[in-house]
This record gives sequence, structure tokens and C-alpha cells, in this order.
Amino acid sequence: KVTLKEAFKGAFYAGVAINRRQIQGADTKGRELIATQFNSISPENDLKWSSIHPKKEAYNFKPADDYVDFGLKNRMFIVGHTLVWHQQTPAWVYNSESGNKLSRDELLKVMEDHITTVVGRYKGKIGGWDVVNEAFNDNGTFRKSDWHDIIGDDFIEKAFEFAHKADPKAELYYNDYNLYVPKKREAVVSLIKRLQAKNIPVTAVGEQGHYGLNSPAVNQVEASIIAFTATGASVNITELDINVLPNANQQINADLGNTADYQAKYNPYAAGLPDTIATQLANRYAALFAMFYKHKAVISRVTFWGLTDGDSWLNGWPIRGRTNYPLLFDRAYNIKQPVFDAVVKVAGR
Ligand code: G3I
Repeated sequence: KVTLKEAFKGAFYAGVAINRRQIQGADTKGRELIATQFNSISPENDLKWSSIHPKKEAYNFKPADDYVDFGLKNRMFIVGHTLVWHQQTPAWVYNSESGNKLSRDELLKVMEDHITTVVGRYKGKIGGWDVVNEAFNDNGTFRKSDWHDIIGDDFIEKAFEFAHKADPKAELYYNDYNLYVPKKREAVVSLIKRLQAKNIPVTAVGEQGHYGLNSPAVNQVEASIIAFTATGASVNITELDINVLPNANQQINADLGNTADYQAKYNPYAAGLPDTIATQLANRYAALFAMFYKHKAVISRVTFWGLTDGDSWLNGWPIRGRTNYPLLFDRAYNIKQPVFDAVVKVAGR
């Protein structure tokens, strides 16, 4: 039986985000499935700032080291995620011990130290880095964050410069979601051109693929791939998953809790995914992969954001305690045959 990495060999890497239980915990089945099916890994959380550098003077390298060792052992393309982000970053990063915000120069120094240490440690092992994650709003303006407030628009450029210095051979990516939204897409095209004009290497745009069953339209995503690759950069489809559940608002946790109403309305497939929805999911994945495959010359990697449905962050977002089915493997580590088959068929397998 064909595996994902065999099916897409010569087209793009088949990637997956992996978690702590799979890296160093009891999830042997998960580890085996990852090694069998995928030839690239991303760390779901273990290389984020709060995990790897929780205190100013204290790094927590062990989970990241184990993650990298797993990838090396299995000869995978290893991704680093992520160096500069507004989430999962401890408060000490932006504040002095007396509680005042750092100056631009002080924060740049903290950024440089972190990037130099983390990228330097995995030099030649981690093949590419999500240098900056989610810096723009959907309307194309800079997202409000301490990074932007304190350093200014060039915080992205600086992060790329530091990363390039720490490992000149590593690929460097800008990663974000909703990049099919035209204003956001244009902001990222401008960013890439700005970096290129200053001779700051940027390898690819990471397009997070957190999609729904019906939106975005495949041609909107395609338009963004065309726009990004027109700059000469390539594209990685990162964080791919397809949410099959109805939209829910974060308030619902507090308002309804775990009542029967809540379950019926917002968690409708707790007992299993109906065939009709499984078919929609297969068709949706097939349509997306057909488009990715068409652009395989400029797409380097397609990475799922999680291994099995049970691992997915979408069981807990935007409200907790749901049963989602966004991926290609079920909660018992089985291939979801119709969905998986629809995907590999795109590559003629
Ligand atoms: O590790 C702690 C654990 O010790 C604690 O008991 C538990 C209680 O809440 O929390 C655990 O940390 C959680 C962590 O995942 C590891 O499971 C955090 O609360 C939780 O917030 C964190 O969520 C991650 C999220 O990023 C953080 O914003 C998700 O797993 C991860 O899938 C998600 O990934 C992001 C990408 O990095 C960037 N793009 C969007 C994507 C989805 O949000």
C-alpha cells in the first residue's frame, strides 16, 4: 500500500506536525505511523519560545533535541516552528525585571540572542525555519503585538537577518494563515519584495492550511500561491487540516458548558462521522491536493497539522471538548481510507 511520502515523492515533502507524546512519550503507534507515512516533521509546540526558552537564563532544549533526533534518525526534512510570534512567548521577553517594556534595542538584543542560540544549536539539522509567524491582520496591516509596538515594521527583517547569520544554509520562511484573503496576501507579497530588495534571504511563504469543508475556495488559495511564487519565493502548505464542525464562538464554553444542547449543536459527530460528511471531506482534500499537485514545481512541502484526528488542536478550538475529524488518520491510528485514497489518487497512486 502506498504511503503519503511515496505518493508525493518528486512533487513535495509529505509533512506532519508532531507533539511531545509522539516525540518522547508513550505514543509508539504514533511514532511508527509518522515514520512510515511522512518525510518531513514540524514541532507542534516544542520549539516555540515559551517551551524552549521559558526563562531568560534557562533554555529547555530536551524536547526539541529529541524532536530533531527523531527526524535525523528517520532521514526527514526537519522544520523549526517558530522563532518570532506574538503567542506562546513569555512576558520576560518584552519586559525588564522592574516591569517596564524594553526599548527597541533591548528587545532586538533579546531576539538576536534567542535566534542565534536556537538556530545555531540545530544548524545543519533543522532544514528550514518559520522565522516569523502571523505578523499581519486580514486587512493587510501589521498585527498589534509587542514585537511590532516596540521594534517597529522592521522586526520581521531583523528576525530574518539574525536567522540567516545563525545558519546561512537554512531555508527561511514567513508563515501565516488566511493568506488567500487578497489584502493579507498583498501585504505578504510586499514583505517578500522588501526582504529581497535588501538582500535578506527568504525561501518560501508558509501558507497555513486551516480550512473548512466549503471555504476558502480552492481558486482563492491558488491565486495566493501564484502571487507568492511570482516573487521567486516558493510556497509551503503548512498546518493543513479541514475543520468539519459548525462554527462556534468562544463564549459558548461559558454559556452552555457541556449540556445536551451544546453537544447537539456544536459537537454533532461525537458518535462518529456520517458517511456524507466523510465524502465531503474526501472531495475537499482531493480538490485541494489536485491544485497543490498542479503547482508542485513551486510547492516544496505540504504539512498536516497533526497526525490523527485525536491529536488535532481542532478538538479544542474555538471551544473545548469537541470531536473533530480534520486529518487523514483516525483516533485508532487507522488510515481514513476514502479521504486518504482521494489524496494519493491525485498523484496517480
Ligand atoms: O503543555 C501544557 C500542559 O502542561 C498543560 O497542562 C495544558 C493545560 O492547558 O496546556 C499545555 O499547553 C498547551 C499546548 O498547546 C500543548 O498541548 C497550551 O495550553 C495550548 O494553548 C497549546 O495550543 C497550541 C496552540 O498552537 C497555541 O497557540 C496547539 O497545540 C497548536 O496546535 C497551535 O498551533 C498553532 C501554530 O503554532 C500556529 N498557527 C496556528 C496553529 C493553531 O492554533
